[in-house]
Amino acid sequence: MTKPDRWVIGNWKMNGSLASNADLLEAVRGKPESSVKVAVCAPFPYLNQVQRALGGSDVQSGAQDVCEHGSGAYTGQVSGAMLREFGATVVLVGHSERRQFNGETSELVAAKAAAALATGLTPVICVGETLTQRVAGLAEATVAAQLAPCAVLLATSSARVVVAYEPVWAIGTGKTASPAEAQAMHAFIRTQLTAIEPSAASVSVLYGGSVKASNAKELFSQPDIDGGLIGGASLVAADFLAIISAAG
Ligand code: 13P
Repeated sequence: MTKPDRWVIGNWKMNGSLASNADLLEAVRGKPESSVKVAVCAPFPYLNQVQRALGGSDVQSGAQDVCEHGSGAYTGQVSGAMLREFGATVVLVGHSERRQFNGETSELVAAKAAAALATGLTPVICVGETLTQRVAGLAEATVAAQLAPCAVLLATSSARVVVAYEPVWAIGTGKTASPAEAQAMHAFIRTQLTAIEPSAASVSVLYGGSVKASNAKELFSQPDIDGGLIGGASLVAADFLAIISAAG
């Protein structure tokens, strides 16, 4: 069984400007060589800038969402093929902010992941419980239900899928899941994935939620944590670079 790849992915969310991106991309492009796969997921309008700035480097570029349809009358949406034309290789699907603010269901997230795969993108399927769900003892059931509609694509394409566990209560709050809490959920996710498809043992499962340079090493040294999906700290070059080296 191949071991899961290690990844560090920056999610810029709705942040950036042409000027600030240029400095950040130059620094990230200059990261030391390592076996860790690195990607930055920028807002759509900046994909061309990211493509030009990272061209020829081993830093991948990605987007934060993709339409579940291939083309047509879907005003405001962006297809996987369009993302590919702008050099994207990965795309986040089902980030909790899209589930919360855009009403995305787990079925829609699975359809987006399938559209990503169909256009040659690696979907990063984001899952995670709210604090209310955790306190009610429903964390595992919530994550299992979020993954369930992805069963078919995991069964057929697990080699090309990444999963990110992002407890909603840890996102942008400065409150990180403890390494033990995160590891427990990652082990649960691994069990869920391999129950669907044994070869899904090689799916990378990333942790996200207030990952910083100071806590990355301990989180990433847990046996079932294969790297991180980084929000705020991915906007600060020195922090993002330190997190990348913590994953190596
Ligand atoms: P923060 O790292 O800012 O908590 O965000 C995590 C996240 O949502 C990444 O997708």
